[in-house]
Amino acid sequence: MLPMTDFAHRLLAWYDQNARELPWRVSPSDRARGVRPDPYRVWLSEIMLQQTTIPHGMRYFLRFVELWPTVDALASADRDDIMHEWAGLGYYSRARNLHACAEQVVERGGFPDTAKALQKLPGIGPYTAGAIASIAFDEPVAAVDGNVERVLSRFLAREEPLPQIKSDLKNEASKRVPEQRAGDFAQAFMDLGATVCTPRRPDCPSCPLKADCRAFALGKVEQFPVKPPKKAKPMRHGWAYIIHDGKAFGVERRPEKGLLAGMTGLPTTDWRVVDDEPSGPDLIDVEGRYIGRVEHVFTHFRLFLDVVEIQRDDVPGDLKIDIGQSTNSGLPSVFAKAIALWRN
Ligand code: ADE
Repeated sequence: MLPMTDFAHRLLAWYDQNARELPWRVSPSDRARGVRPDPYRVWLSEIMLQQTTIPHGMRYFLRFVELWPTVDALASADRDDIMHEWAGLGYYSRARNLHACAEQVVERGGFPDTAKALQKLPGIGPYTAGAIASIAFDEPVAAVDGNVERVLSRFLAREEPLPQIKSDLKNEASKRVPEQRAGDFAQAFMDLGATVCTPRRPDCPSCPLKADCRAFALGKVEQFPVKPPKKAKPMRHGWAYIIHDGKAFGVERRPEKGLLAGMTGLPTTDWRVVDDEPSGPDLIDVEGRYIGRVEHVFTHFRLFLDVVEIQRDDVPGDLKIDIGQSTNSGLPSVFAKAIALWRN
């Protein structure tokens, strides 16, 4: 068994004194007495907190567990009721995934207890899988979110822009996960990032890691994580439509001339040049459901593509893609991104 690193020791000792009380959390002292977190509550909180801050998410969390105290209750709930309660949390696709995930969990007889298996469930990405596996099951895996990236980029004083070092930071986090108390460790990291190692005006004197923090030693904590330089490419904006009948959605062959010539893509508007990234749409120009925006960088411009889902009986297009089909192979990545956003 790996000995706990000093890093983990110090972070856990700090957490023992400073853990926030949260309704889905088992306090470190209760945890030490053998109280186990409810995987359902851990999962639900993590999905909600992908969307929002703790104070805002807390209200939703409490309402959901009051209405649906178990994953079985949620799985049997009417999807419209879930959607209704989700309103205000954004991205309805997450609520749809929430229900789909609950159904799969019930079907398989409970939550899987490893990050690898959790990631196969709807709506659970690498961060959420790590968070649930560690917090609910003490699997020694990292849960790397923006907080953890900030803490580590400062601790290591990494000069490269954050997007370039994400996978490095994930490794750095993984190396420090202790074999014991992985769940407390993950939550300690989150709490430290949220209350001490904050984006602005961090409270370094209170930090359990300050003695070894390179950014602190350099006196430039707030300069990390380093932001990528601003891109100067021209920008364009357009709309893409996922038109489906509940079974398949339509794609079309693009014109033989121009960008992505002859390739298969979602139906889209023209991509008009814009001076700035447009603010999120207040209204959409067709009857449909706004899914969100993807950004894609082409050689000569950056595209902001707003994605809309339209459900109707007659699906237009040269080709239909099964909704359940998980690969988007053959589709240019800008469209694959749009479809992935919708699926998630
Ligand atoms: N942010 C996301 N998940 C969290 C958790 N479990 N505890 C504290 N902050 C969080």
